[in-house]
Amino acid sequence: MLPAFAAARRMYYDSRHLMNEGIPSKPTDSSGEFLWGFWYPALRSNQVHGRKLARATLLEVPLVIGRDAAGKPFALRDICPHRAFPLSFGQFEATIVECAYHGWQFDAHTGQCRHIPSLTADSKLKCERIYAGSFPCEERDGYIWAFMANPEGRALTSADVVPPAPELPTFSPRYKIAHLAADLPCSVDHGIIGLMDPAHGPFVHQAWWWRTRRSIRDKAKQFEPLPNGFRMSPHAPSANSAPYKILKLITGEPATTMIDFVLANQRFEQIRAGKYWLSSRTTVTPIRRDLCRLDFVAAWNILPWFPIVSFIIHVLGPRFIRQDTEVIEKQSLGLKHEDRMMLVDDADRQARWYFELKAAHLESQRTGQPMRHPVTGPVTLRWRS
Ligand code: FES
Ligand SMILES: [Fe+2]
Repeated sequence: MLPAFAAARRMYYDSRHLMNEGIPSKPTDSSGEFLWGFWYPALRSNQVHGRKLARATLLEVPLVIGRDAAGKPFALRDICPHRAFPLSFGQFEATIVECAYHGWQFDAHTGQCRHIPSLTADSKLKCERIYAGSFPCEERDGYIWAFMANPEGRALTSADVVPPAPELPTFSPRYKIAHLAADLPCSVDHGIIGLMDPAHGPFVHQAWWWRTRRSIRDKAKQFEPLPNGFRMSPHAPSANSAPYKILKLITGEPATTMIDFVLANQRFEQIRAGKYWLSSRTTVTPIRRDLCRLDFVAAWNILPWFPIVSFIIHVLGPRFIRQDTEVIEKQSLGLKHEDRMMLVDDADRQARWYFELKAAHLESQRTGQPMRHPVTGPVTLRWRS
């Protein structure tokens, strides 16, 4: 082996140690693993209307989603317990989903079987003991959310706690709201660490109004632990991005921004300037092991009569997301050959925390012990971006 090549290989393996520092298991151990026991956005609200049965996939579970007469959404596993016929091909009436194969009927909200047409009057079979898989379902912020407790949609016991469905924080009664989405051809982990990666901005999102390579400078950001996540503490937004300069110009107030990440997949960002605010949430939701969907929702009350924020969200937002999507598409070409990665220093610390949080959460689920949080107290991270 040529000496230079040997040195390069050693560096590669040494940096694997570097990557694993502080991680109980290799980051790839839990990579691609789904986190059960969380709410995930299944569809946009406007994709589910009338008596139509809509399809969605979350964590590789096929779902049939609809609304009852009162508009309340429901989510069933899209598989009939009789012979696996997708319930979404069936009929929906009042609160009953009827399978199109043999007409078995199920309660839309609980999945309980209500009627089996082939049974004779003297049949001993108790059809009410049969269930189609069912998932708690709520509507918030323009999304239909499903609580993915387990892959089969087994009924929850009284001991199971279903937390409230996620809600975008808002800070005044009147505001504007916008939604964006994109499919990302990668595992949920790559989607999420891409979301919290500060170092790609000047290379992927180059634009005169945001970042250029020449605008790279030293950053120091304070972080603190949150239950199931971590927070980039409130701070003045980066001086090197034009939207924040505009914000300061129009509100006349110094702006602060705060970014939270919480398991399983939510990144919240709040920008406050006096009475003005912009609140956004990005989720990266696993559809399959190799596909996830990014959903972005933003609400704001900044100058509703002057569409500067609307322009940023509707015109620049999609451009931003397209840049990220293109990067993920290209990265997926390399990931076919190499799923290992290097997480180096503070620029990749949040990615490392994500893997550690995920591993700690899975460990706590397995053992029933409280989760050992990887972020033990306030800490400053430094990088250049
Ligand atoms: S497969 Fe659904 S009723 Fe038979
Ligand atoms: Fe990005």
